[in-house]
Amino acid sequence: MRLETERLILRKPRKSDAKILKKNNDTIAIRDFFMPCPEKEGYFEKLTNRCIREWEKKKRYWFIIVLKKTGKVIGLSGVKNIDYYNKTGYLSSWIFKRYRRKYYLTEAKIAIHDFCFNDLGLRKLKSEVATFNKPSINMQAKFGITFEGMKRKENLNPYTKKYTDMNLYGILKPEWKKVAPGLKKDLKKKIDKLKG
Ligand SMILES: CC(C)(COP(=O)(O)OP(=O)(O)OC[C@H]1O[C@@H](n2cnc3c(N)ncnc32)[C@H](O)[C@@H]1OP(=O)(O)O)[C@@H](O)C(=O)NCCC(=O)NCCS
Repeated sequence: MRLETERLILRKPRKSDAKILKKNNDTIAIRDFFMPCPEKEGYFEKLTNRCIREWEKKKRYWFIIVLKKTGKVIGLSGVKNIDYYNKTGYLSSWIFKRYRRKYYLTEAKIAIHDFCFNDLGLRKLKSEVATFNKPSINMQAKFGITFEGMKRKENLNPYTKKYTDMNLYGILKPEWKKVAPGLKKDLKKKIDKLKG
């Protein structure tokens, strides 16, 4: 199972992806990918194996994002902790540094929201974002995702050795249905502009 968008292929992780993820470990203090300790030997191998295992159990769909044009892996995004009883899941995303600000995550995230609501039958998508993570906070606003509160001093940041506050966000299926057409139209315009 894979998703396809105008510029991207979103596919299941493979064991060999661990090397690519490790090589691109360029950011600090992002909850899902960098806490507790990504420098630890075997961190990305374990993460990749867990992603594959949980994909097979339908508990987590973290897609490897591949650029159609070059075949290069540019990041990872998807849903984890899928709760089929409450019909909820947690979203996470990571675009490698050199590929940012080209609307790749916007493009992948739109496809992932559609997949979660339409194919997995989820009702609500949630995310937790460190309060200092401006790009991700802006992204929540852009997607019309509601701020639902904050967990104070929730995670130990291994780099600063300080506890980080985490913002909680959520979007319901009817809210997504409202916001999706505008986002898709806007993305199309932005991609056309980037093409020049
Ligand atoms: C957050 C992240 C995934 C965004 O990926 P991206 O492909 O660069 O995002 P896009 O180009 O699709 O940008 C979409 C929107 O996000 C916001 N945004 C992205 N980067 C931003 C930045 N550096 N500063 C401010 N806002 C930013 C903007 O609102 C932008 O839309 P706009 O330009 O129309 O205003 C990327 O910066 C990243 O991987 N960061 C490290 C990992 C991370 O923080 N993950 C989220 C954990 S909760």
